[in-house]
Amino acid sequence: MGIEEVMREIEAESSKGGKFLPIVGSVKGNFLYMLAKVSQAKNVLDLGTLTGYSALLLSKCVGKDGRIVTVENDKTLFEEALKNFKKAKVKNIRPRFGDAKEILRQMKDRKFDFIFLDIWKEDYVKVLDDCVKLLKVNGLLVADNALWDEEPLKEWRKSIFNHKQVVSFLVPLGDGMSVSMRIK
Ligand SMILES: C[S@@+](CC[C@H](N)C(=O)[O-])C[C@H]1O[C@@H](n2cnc3c(N)ncnc32)[C@H](O)[C@@H]1O
Repeated sequence: MGIEEVMREIEAESSKGGKFLPIVGSVKGNFLYMLAKVSQAKNVLDLGTLTGYSALLLSKCVGKDGRIVTVENDKTLFEEALKNFKKAKVKNIRPRFGDAKEILRQMKDRKFDFIFLDIWKEDYVKVLDDCVKLLKVNGLLVADNALWDEEPLKEWRKSIFNHKQVVSFLVPLGDGMSVSMRIK
């Protein structure tokens, strides 16, 4: 199977039989793809693998000479994602199992061009400083669900707009995405 076919399968599975798996989906996915493409991202960090949809999308975007590190802390979902990566025959995805907060702290010397943040919302603010540290200057940090009217997202919006090392804006696409560029 090709990447697109596996992504379509994940999309179909995510809403089958009354179940709901919160993948980024094709509309916000196209925006994510475009941002990563125009910024010529090659080293990408995908936080919150779920069953692999966003990692596959970004894998297609960066091509064979790019790298995606994707992080998931739920064993069942992680294993499901591994199966999907195998099915799609991708070679540029490096899956990591564990808590993003811990893994980010262990990766201090890595420099990414692009980070997609899509973990549980109460962890967003907790990983902000480490994400900025791991981002190259001019690199982009994109966070999903940025317009939710809930405390962790209110806190997130406040934190990115007050952060001295990034400039940020909100994109009113679906339930929102925030885009922050590291400036120093
Ligand atoms: C919204 S889903 C990610 C969707 C995925 N980005 C996509 O578009 O297909 C969030 C995922 O992040 C995982 N997660 C939540 N908090 C995490 C954390 N602190 N570290 C690692 N994974 C986390 C959840 O288990 C879940 O699978």
